[in-house]
Amino acid sequence: MSEQQRPEAEAEAPVFRPRKNGQAQSVSDELAAWMTTGWADTELRDLEPVEQAGHTARRRDVLSAAFPGDRLVVPSGQLLTRSNDTEYPFRAATDYAYLTGDTTDGNCLVLTPRADGGHDAVLYLKPRSNRDNGEFWLGGYGELWTGRRNSLGEAAELLGLPTADVRTLPGVLGSDTSATTRVVRGHDAEIDALVDGLRADADADDEARAKSVQLDQDLGVALADHRLVKDEWEIAQLQLAVDATVRGFGDVAKALPQARDTSERYVEGTFFLRARVEGNDVGYGTIAASGANATTLHWTRNDGPVREGDLLLLDAGVETTTLYTADVTRTMPVSGTFTELQRKVYDLVYEAQEAGIAAVAPGRPFTAFHEASQRVLAEGLVEWGLLEGPVDRVLELGLQRRYTLHGTGHMLGMDVHDCAVSRQEIHLYGELKPGMVLTVEPGLYFQPDDLTVPEELRGIGVRIEDDVLVTEEGRTVMSAGLPRSSADVEAWLAERLPR
Ligand code: GLY
Ligand code: MN
Ligand code: MN
Repeated sequence: MSEQQRPEAEAEAPVFRPRKNGQAQSVSDELAAWMTTGWADTELRDLEPVEQAGHTARRRDVLSAAFPGDRLVVPSGQLLTRSNDTEYPFRAATDYAYLTGDTTDGNCLVLTPRADGGHDAVLYLKPRSNRDNGEFWLGGYGELWTGRRNSLGEAAELLGLPTADVRTLPGVLGSDTSATTRVVRGHDAEIDALVDGLRADADADDEARAKSVQLDQDLGVALADHRLVKDEWEIAQLQLAVDATVRGFGDVAKALPQARDTSERYVEGTFFLRARVEGNDVGYGTIAASGANATTLHWTRNDGPVREGDLLLLDAGVETTTLYTADVTRTMPVSGTFTELQRKVYDLVYEAQEAGIAAVAPGRPFTAFHEASQRVLAEGLVEWGLLEGPVDRVLELGLQRRYTLHGTGHMLGMDVHDCAVSRQEIHLYGELKPGMVLTVEPGLYFQPDDLTVPEELRGIGVRIEDDVLVTEEGRTVMSAGLPRSSADVEAWLAERLPR
C-alpha cells in the first residue's frame, strides 16, 4: 500500500506528518477538489461518559490538591518510528491513562491553576482529520490510513473533561509563564522541551538544575504514591486481566502437544492470541521457558524446544484495554506429570509461596511476605544440604539468593512492576493497605553450570506467581482460578492435555 503526494497548492495545510514512501503520483486538482466533497456528517452526539470518568475526575482532584498553584502537564506519549512510516505498537503512558481514561497517542493533559484555588483540566488531543486540505487521506496520520479518531466534542463527552486541539498546546504553554510548570517527563520529547523552554534559568547553575529536575520528579512520585492503593474500579479491571490470563494459561495447556512439535514460541503465540482477543496486549514480554531456560529469570527469547520430560515455566499476563495487567507464573510438567525430583523442587517453592501469601495482610510490613518466603526456601536448601546452616545465618548473609535470585514480589497495577518510583517509606518500607495489589512469586533456579548443586538438579527452574489483593480482612488471591499445588497442577493438566 502506498499513498499519493500532496499537491503543492496544499503544502501549507496543517498536517501531522506527511507520508514519505509513496509512489510519485501527483494529485490532479479535480481529484483534490472531489476528495473534499461527498462525505456524510459522522459526528456522534449525546455520548455517555466512559465508566471510569468519575474515577479519573477524582484522581485529578487529588493531584490538584497536592500541587496548588502549579501547572501540571501529563503527556500520553508519541508513536515511536520503527522505519519510515512504520511504528512500534503504541501504549499510552500510565499516568496519562490513569488521569484521563484515554489511551491514544500524541495527546496531553494540562491542569492549569485557578486564581481561586484548584485547577482547570483540559485534554489536548489530535482532532479529526481535516477533509478540506487533504490531510485525511494524504497525511501520514490521516484517518483514512490509521482509523477514525474521536472528535474533540466526542472525546469531551466520553472522557468527561474539556478538550482542545493539541496543536495549540505550544502556544498555550508559552503564553502564560507565571505558574511553575511540572511535566511527567520521558514520554514526549517535544513537550519536555517545551517545558524546558519555560524554565529559562534552569541551567544557570547546579542548584537551579537540581531544582528543575526535582519539580518533575516530585510530580511522578506523587502519582506513583497515589496509584499504590487501587480503587474499586481498578480492582475490577485487574480481576478482568487475571481472569483472561487464567484462560490464556488454559489455552497453553491444551496446546502443549503443538509446542512439543515446534518451540517455546508456540506457547508465547498461544497466550498472545488470548491477550489480543480479550485485552489490549500482553502486559510485559511473555516468558515461555522450558527446560534449563527456566533458570533465566526473564527468558523472553522463547526460541528453545519444549521437551516431553521437561518443565515449562510460563510467566505471562494479559493487559486489559484499560491498561491494567496481570502477572502470573505457573511451572508445569510438559508430560503432565512431575518427576520425583521436579516435584521436590516444586513443592518447596509452593511451601514458600504459601508462607508468603499468608503474610499478606493490612498493617503488615511490605517486606513481611518476602521474608516469610525466603525463610522457607532457606530452610529447605539447608535441609537438602545445599547450604550450610543455621538458617538464620543463611538469611542474614542472603546465601539462599544464589538459588532464588530475585525478590518475592512487587506491586501490580497498570504497570507490571507498578509504582516503582513511589516513596520508599510508604512502599518498600511501608505497610500494606487494603486496595494494594501485589505479586507473590518465590522461585528456585539451579543453573545448568552450577557446580555447587548435585548434577540432577542442574537446569531445573521453578517459579509460582500469583496476584494478591490486600483486603480489610486479609487477602484475596485474584489468580486462584489456576492450580498451585503440584497435585492440582497435574489434575488441571490432565483435564486439558489431549489423551
Ligand atoms: N514477569 C515479571 C515478573 O514476574 O516480575
Ligand atoms: Mn511474572
Ligand atoms: Mn512478577
